[in-house]
Amino acid sequence: MAFFLRRPKGPFILREGMAMHWDTEDPFIFASHHEDDYPKGNAQMAPPLQEISGRNLGRDYQKFFGFRMYNGKVVPGFPLHAHWGYETVTLPQLGYVDHSDSEGNTGRFGFGDVQWVSAPCFYEHCEMYPLVDQENRNPNDITQLMIALPLEMKNLPEISVNTVWKERVPSVCSGGSRVQVICGDFGGQTAASPSIHSWADGTHGVRILRIEMDPGAEISIDPAAEGANRNLYYVSGDRAEIMGEEVVWNTRMKIGASEEIGIRNGRKPSVLWLLEGIPIDQRMSMFGPVMLSNDTEVRQAMQSIRKQELERWPWELVDRVNPMDSGRFLLRKDGTREMPPERSPSEKAFMHAVERYQKQKERGDQRHGRQKIIGIHPDMPEIRLHAVVAEVSSHGLPADELPDITRRYFALARDLLFRRRVMQHGSHDGAVGCA
Ligand SMILES: [Fe+2]
Repeated sequence: MAFFLRRPKGPFILREGMAMHWDTEDPFIFASHHEDDYPKGNAQMAPPLQEISGRNLGRDYQKFFGFRMYNGKVVPGFPLHAHWGYETVTLPQLGYVDHSDSEGNTGRFGFGDVQWVSAPCFYEHCEMYPLVDQENRNPNDITQLMIALPLEMKNLPEISVNTVWKERVPSVCSGGSRVQVICGDFGGQTAASPSIHSWADGTHGVRILRIEMDPGAEISIDPAAEGANRNLYYVSGDRAEIMGEEVVWNTRMKIGASEEIGIRNGRKPSVLWLLEGIPIDQRMSMFGPVMLSNDTEVRQAMQSIRKQELERWPWELVDRVNPMDSGRFLLRKDGTREMPPERSPSEKAFMHAVERYQKQKERGDQRHGRQKIIGIHPDMPEIRLHAVVAEVSSHGLPADELPDITRRYFALARDLLFRRRVMQHGSHDGAVGCA
């Protein structure tokens, strides 16, 4: 009797619903996407006690009051845990991650920064989500991917921890779409893992794109590397036309490497992720936080973790957070401090104009600059963003820099909204008012 595998009709090899953890393919071994609407933080950068009492603290994966504590008992997040045999990519689009590790590194990253951690051997860290805003809610949107390391890189002693600040993450904006090129090539931009040991080093077709689309926007994505596994994840929005098919959000699509992917968004802003990579195609064994060549190695590694978990941890707390006002930084074990790059003159001028406007508004001065709605906030569609073009122009910026300011506006507005609280909900007449 002959059996035939029937290929599903339509452009997708596979199409299925998604959960918080996405189904992935070699070389990706794990992907998760968390969205939590945390309340305003207390002095410990934690939710108020009345909102976390009664939970199964230490293992809280069910949303109550709009958020989860995960493994955190005071601050949400993931206290001390091990990684061994793979690389991790973490992108907090909203919110901060406080990170400390067994190497002695610590730091804070967030709001579009990308952290790469390559751990071929025994490595431990904690990843906490501090609620730094004590006057407003602390919404969080964090995506984490894990990429396997091939057998020849397992157990090598060099651990890499790097933060690519959001200002240096390449982006491609066109036709109402904004693409963060986290890894690989797209639209003339290129990125690769900064780790010493990585399958995503630019030679194995690994491409990671985060795609934001305005209502009605269209985008075309070129084919993947030959032989690459390829999955598109429709993470948020409503519905879109993808390769000629109507797709509702919360859908994973496996797509052939040679296909061009055309997307036409529907009526609501959408976010999609594209993960591509040539498979490592090696037999490996994985249990818990360990991925090595076989079961024996994994068992030995798990024993090492159990025995040395605390003695290798250099910090006083397993759920360590940094001071509330520390901002974004990476402090390496050798004392080297890495900071986000200085803002460009255009960005500084723009932020100065916004702050000046806000002061005028607080004083009741109605002589605001010329306004223009420049878009809808991709994460909060109910918010419309305005810019005071005249204000910015008055700072002596050449006219041809204005489009650049507009492109950078969403990131700046997010900073202002969540960190400086300059924006105000309900306003309709502001330089960065929200209507
Ligand atoms: Fe981790």
